[in-house]
Amino acid sequence: MTSSSKPGRRPLVPVVSMALIALVVAACDEEGDADGAQDRFRSEVGPVPETPQRPGDAQAGYRALVNEPYVSCGMPYSAYRRLTPETDPADLLPGREGRNAELPYHLTAHTNADGVEVVSSNCLLCHAAHFDGELVVGLGNEFLDFTTDPRALVNQLGAYVRGEGDTAAWQHWADRVEGIAPYVQTSTVGANPATNLTWALMAHRDPATLAWSSEPLLEPPPREPLPVSVPPWWRMQKKHAMFYTTIGRGDHGRFMLLAAMLCADTVEEAEAADSYAADIRAFIASLEPPEYPFPIDAALAEEGRQVFEATCSSCHGTYGEAPSYPNLVVALDVVGTDPAYATAATDGSRDRFYEWAARSPYGDDVRLAPAEGYIAPPLDGVWATAPYLHNGSVPDIRSLLDSRLRPTFWRHEQPRDYDATILGWRYERLEHGKDQAADREERARIYDTTRPGYGNGGHLFGDGLTDAERDAVIEYLKTL
Ligand code: HEC
Ligand code: HEC
Repeated sequence: MTSSSKPGRRPLVPVVSMALIALVVAACDEEGDADGAQDRFRSEVGPVPETPQRPGDAQAGYRALVNEPYVSCGMPYSAYRRLTPETDPADLLPGREGRNAELPYHLTAHTNADGVEVVSSNCLLCHAAHFDGELVVGLGNEFLDFTTDPRALVNQLGAYVRGEGDTAAWQHWADRVEGIAPYVQTSTVGANPATNLTWALMAHRDPATLAWSSEPLLEPPPREPLPVSVPPWWRMQKKHAMFYTTIGRGDHGRFMLLAAMLCADTVEEAEAADSYAADIRAFIASLEPPEYPFPIDAALAEEGRQVFEATCSSCHGTYGEAPSYPNLVVALDVVGTDPAYATAATDGSRDRFYEWAARSPYGDDVRLAPAEGYIAPPLDGVWATAPYLHNGSVPDIRSLLDSRLRPTFWRHEQPRDYDATILGWRYERLEHGKDQAADREERARIYDTTRPGYGNGGHLFGDGLTDAERDAVIEYLKTL
């Protein structure tokens, strides 16, 4: 990727006029009728317009990301250490301060109002992963296991809690987990419940004050989350809206910090996290993908570039010296991939959460407005981000580009091992789905594409290529 796609070089005039248009549109919406509410929460398929972003300092953003307690409740540190006496050195990150320097990358420590030191999961739980021996910040972790009840960990840790202060801190955290536990358990290892988690948190909070209610104030989301694969952060350098359905319109920094909602019980707490949100956004938008660590056949990749530009660039853009990216949402009937995630976002069944956001302190700057389709993502570093599609249903790029090869039932091999011939983690093809699994553990590891939301159809744009052309495109994708 060249520096011309870096943020901060955007032409100023169009950005300013876009802001004015946004203001005018927002003003019209205020007086809208019932239909206006529907429009407010929907976007058209097609190109996504750019929204100006608050400027931020990327370096300060990294500091905040790995040190600030934006998730402010958690397990008492002393109990955590009794349960887990040592940190694996491969999980340490540079630039961490105080206690954080000795914690694994996905945990952050802070001292709460009662003087108790607590540790909580941070963004890197889902947004950092190991590849080829390196811990890559921004790479989605596609191997997390959300198939068990999170209350089990809470109770396990409870046995190590000592003293009044620690018990109160543990109880605060346990209460939060109790509220969200029914909505964050997926049926398959790797499937991520973050979206359902967000809806569940909104259901338990008063939008005006952010006060927590143990009883839901809105009808909660369905219990079983639709499966989602974690996108790599470096895409945000090019994307005009966040998330697969481009539901995240407006101020990206504010959206990113919605994750803080697990624990922030007051508007002041949310504002404290928002004070560094623009810096975190700037850091995320400055990330470059890792470089492909294995050999590349340059001549074959050059052939692949030509095929790619003829077959794929209209949706995914061009790369290299003068990159372009169309920011295109592709309608469900054109892309043909599993429709459940985009349909649930646009059929009205989530509008109460979009309304919640509009009424909350976040609402001045963010708008939840999904389109009925999926964005064709930038393909920078795509070789590192298997499995593919928004639901992670296709394990490798070779079968993404030849739908006849896609397995109906599959599971990742253990320990995980990267296969450069298919651009994905080695997997086993299975003869049966979850229904015939031997036990709970095997059931959780099987990716069963016959289940609702888990479908692996669509995106047939590589099927028409010859084998030689497909090999060339795969070689080219290694260079992005
Ligand atoms: C529990 C896992 C999890 C945690 C924790 C989490 N995220 Fe995410 N994040 C996701 C998933 C899943 C998506 C994709 C959702 C979608 O696109 O609909 C996502 C999407 C994003 C995106 C948009 C990427 C794109 O291409 O549109 C950004 C940026 C992001 N997260 C930032 C953050 C930040 C910053 C934090 C911490 C404050 C955070 N996330 C915490 C799981 C998580
Ligand atoms: C008509 C638009 C369109 C064309 C043409 C197209 N794609 Fe896509 N592509 C998409 C969309 C939309 C998605 C996301 C679908 C989803 O997540 O369900 C996608 C997803 C992908 C992904 C998966 C990204 C990820 O991380 O999950 C890869 C890889 C990809 N496309 C490669 C290609 C290649 C190579 C070609 C040319 C042979 C191509 N695409 C042609 C629209 C297109």
